[in-house]
This record gives sequence, structure tokens and C-alpha cells, in this order.
Amino acid sequence: MSKQFDVVVIGGGPGGYIAAIRAAQLGFNAACIDEWKTKDGKPAPGGTCTNVGCIPSKALLQSSENYEHASKHFADHGIGVQGLSIDVQKMLGRKDAVVKQNNDGILYLFKKNKVSFFHGRGSFGNKTDAGYEIQVGDETLVAKHVIVATGSNARALPGVPFDEEKILSNDGALRIPAVPKKLVLIGSGVIGLEMGSVWRRVGAEVTVLEALPTFLGAVDEQIAKEAHKAFTKQGLKIELGVKVGEIKTGGKGVSVAYTTAKGEQQTLDADHVIVSIGRVPNTIGLKPEAVGLKLDERGAIVVDDECRTNLPNVWAIGDVVRGPMLAHKAEEEGVAVAERIAGQHGHVNFNTIPWVIYTSPEIAWVGRTEQQLKADGVQYKAGTFPFMANGRARALGDTTGMVKFLADAKTDEILGVHIVGPMASELISEAVVAMEFKASAEDIARICHAHPSLSEATKEAALAVDKRTLNF
Ligand code: FAD
Ligand code: NAI
Repeated sequence: MSKQFDVVVIGGGPGGYIAAIRAAQLGFNAACIDEWKTKDGKPAPGGTCTNVGCIPSKALLQSSENYEHASKHFADHGIGVQGLSIDVQKMLGRKDAVVKQNNDGILYLFKKNKVSFFHGRGSFGNKTDAGYEIQVGDETLVAKHVIVATGSNARALPGVPFDEEKILSNDGALRIPAVPKKLVLIGSGVIGLEMGSVWRRVGAEVTVLEALPTFLGAVDEQIAKEAHKAFTKQGLKIELGVKVGEIKTGGKGVSVAYTTAKGEQQTLDADHVIVSIGRVPNTIGLKPEAVGLKLDERGAIVVDDECRTNLPNVWAIGDVVRGPMLAHKAEEEGVAVAERIAGQHGHVNFNTIPWVIYTSPEIAWVGRTEQQLKADGVQYKAGTFPFMANGRARALGDTTGMVKFLADAKTDEILGVHIVGPMASELISEAVVAMEFKASAEDIARICHAHPSLSEATKEAALAVDKRTLNF
């Protein structure tokens, strides 16, 4: 017997589970299929983000930051710490508990919103007059609308498969059983910097090998420079412009051969290597060919601006389609698609999707960088304000970095906001709201911000656009 649904979502990551909930809120009979399972085979919805991405990485970043504070910064406050130690198993256990709370939370939300959940792998079958047949284990679901949200997987180096013991993807990087003496990360992108920070803070000697000659090329150059300075000062070794060669695993560890930017041959021995060179869209087991669902040369499902695929009533969202691979982008697309199915006008503004790198200092931005504005020939004004001049940052003892505003030279409309410093992940929201409402730098400069707060640095950077900072 088949089960009929208005909307079947394949994939229960942030894109999929949110799409299913929104569809149910809109009155549809909705189902979500997800195959992720715990070690003992129980459902673990939430996708990459909840299980091996956003959530566990932030849990470990918090633990390791607490350790670094205790070992390096408590003394400044007159707090003495003796016999400080790190119990990695406990740290990992806490992270697992945080993940489980999120898995359970999603199962609860499915119940609350009357979304039918199916645990297993969903694959396309026949298309009939009743809709698309989706197979999950022994069951057949029939859907009027299908939303594919099958996410992405870590990209491996050619010929170097992940063994998750010595050669680690993000998965293995989040469960290294003891502090490594030496750790190599390949790729100084978001995962490289976040995971490198976690393991450096608890005592590993970390080297990051990056192929590109520039550090964080997508980030505003001034901000990237400041971040590079801070990371280097912390002891993270970042080598740019390298070409990674042979990677050999042997008895105790792994060796990574590479050519430096100057052409010298080097080899690094380490306990583990984390390969974080980007991610690839995932359609494994989906059987897109059964219905003729079109993929591009990268394996991403081809969609238009509104997440419509080449098939009527089949939609795709999140990491499996074009655009930034971010949880909040996947969520916004999920909501927008459910609303479009309901005949509403769901919309995702790609110009105001924030990016955050959760290192210390945090890096966050929205809109265009100074180098992009130059390349686009846009006339702009820039204003910066350093956290060094912010009272709250001084009280926190965290004065690294700055807030930077970029505004249109004529209209003063905000074109980009870039932050490196404490709580950048939270501060960026004000800039996102401002840009969504097409605010000018002057609008932010004239809004009352609480004192003392880090957000005053945002106001001051907006004032700096008009060269009238009050505290610097
Ligand atoms: P996914 O989260 O990948 O979910 C897809 C789900 O579909 C999975 O559960 C998968 O098992 C399931 N699935 C796949 N195929 C099938 C099938 N055929 N049948 C049934 N189920 C299937 N983004 C941020 O915005 N902020 C962060 O801080 C952040 N940190 C990250 C840290 C790390 C280490 C990593 C790796 C990623 C991080 N990301 C972060 C990116 C974020 O995790 C992804 O952008 C997000 O998870 C994409 O959501 P999604 O729903 O498209 O796919
Ligand atoms: P990434 O795209 O952020 O960075 C990959 C880096 O590897 C780039 O700098 C690239 O130049 C480099 N690289 C590529 N091939 C290489 C090679 N052969 N040798 C050396 N360097 C090489 O990818 P990453 O870090 O794997 O993360 C994947 C995605 O996951 C991110 O792009 C992001 O979308 C998401 N993510 C988001 C987070 C957040 O929002 N805080 C945290 C972690 C991941």
C-alpha cells in the first residue's frame, strides 16, 4: 500500500526539515525522509549541520575556547588556575549530547507540526498520475510535490580516500580521541580555520596548507589581513600557495609532502591530516535518473532562481544546489519553496546572506567586499572602527579587530559590512537587517545603541563612513 502526501521532502538537514515544517504549517500533508542514524541505528535528523557540521563544531569551539581562557586569560582577571587539564573524551561526550538534543528537538518538531517522518534512504521511482513515487525501505510514498534536500559530502583529495582515523573529513575531525601532537589541515577555508582552532587551543601543533596564494580570498582583504595576523599570533601556522603532493599513512601517523610557494619540497609528519578543501553535492542513492532529474557537471541538481528543477513539482534546495553551502541559506530556501507550493511569493535575497567563521576572533560579513566594489567599478565610501576603542571590548579583554562599513558614495546605501572581532556572529545581524531594508550608513549612525556594548563599534563604523567617529 502506498501513502499519499502533498509534499515529500527527501533529506532532513536544515533545508529539508524546515521545508517540511513550513509545508505542514501551510496546511499540507507533509512527510520528511532522512537516513542519518546514530551508532545504534536510531534516527538522527538534522543532516550534516546537526550531526557533523555547524552544531558539533560550535560545541567543540566553545569547549576549547573555555580551555584557552582558563590557560591564558583568566590570570589577567586575577583568577589563578592550578592543575588545569583537558579531558578530550568528556569534551567529545558533551558535544555528542548537544548533537542529540538537536536530533531529538527535530523529532519533537515533526510531531508538533504533524510532519510524517520516515527513517531511511529515499529514492525516486515511477511517476504516475497520482504523483511521484518515492521508495523508502519497503514503503512507497506518493507525492504531488517533492523537495530534494540531500545536502553535500566532504570532497576528498584525488586518490586519498578518507579513512577517518588518519585522513579525516569533517566527520573524523570532530571526534579525534586524544589531543594530537601534530595536526595538518589541507585547505584554509572555513572548516580548516574552525577545526584548526579547536585542536590548537587544546594543545596540538597545527599547520594549515592552502593552495591559493591569498588567505581567505572571499573575505574583505583588510579583514582577512587582520584575521591572518591574529591566527598567526595564536600559533596557527598557515602556509599559502602550496601544492600538496603524496600523502602516506604508516605505523603511527601520516606524512604529507608538499611544495612551498617558493618551490621548496617539504614533508610534514603528523598524527592526523584533516582534508577540508570544499564539499560536493550529494545525490547518492536518490536515483535521479529514474525520473530524468537534471544534474550539472559538479553533480548539483540544476535549479532556477526559485529552486525549480527541470521536472514539474520537483524542487531542490540547500547544499545540493548552487549557491553558498550554508545552513541558513538552506533553511531560507526551504521556507520559500514551501510558500511557493502554497501559491505564495517566498523569496531569498542572496545579497543579504551573512557568512560567519566561528574562530576567535570571529569573522562575519554581509554584502560586497572592498575588492569586489573596486572590480565592479562602484564608487564607495569606507568607514572602520577598531574594537580597541570600544569600552565593552576592553572590559571583555578582547580588543582584536574592527567593524568596517562600505557605503555607496552618492546614495550612502550600505553595500557591505565586514567584522573581525568578538561576537562578530551576533553583531552582523544588525547589518543584515539594515541591508535588507536598504538602509544608509547614516541610518545606523543615527540609531541609539546601548552603552557599553560591542554594537557601538557598528554605530561608530557607520559614523566613520562620514568621517565623524566620536570615540576614535
Ligand atoms: P544536509 O545538512 O547535508 O542534510 C542532508 C540530509 O539528507 C542528511 O541528513 C542526509 O543523510 C540526508 N539524505 C541524503 N540523501 C538522502 C536520501 N536519498 N534519502 C534520505 N535522506 C538522505 N553552515 C552554517 O551556516 N553555519 C555553520 O556554522 C556551519 N558549520 C559547518 C561546519 C562543518 C564542519 C561543516 C561540514 C558544515 C558546516 N556548515 C555550516 C554547512 C552546513 O552544514 C550545510 O550548509 C547545511 O547542513 C546544508 O543543509 P542541507 O539541508 O542542504 O543538507
Ligand atoms: P572552503 O571552500 O571554505 O575552503 C576550502 C579551501 O581549500 C579553499 O581555501 C581552497 O582554496 C582550498 N583548497 C582546495 N583544494 C586544495 C588543495 N588541493 N590543497 C590545498 N588547499 C586546497 O571549504 P571547507 O572549509 O571544506 O568547508 C566547506 C563548506 O562548508 C564551506 O564552504 C561552507 O560553505 C561550509 N561551512 C560553513 C561554516 C560556517 O558557516 N561557519 C563552517 C564550516 C563549513
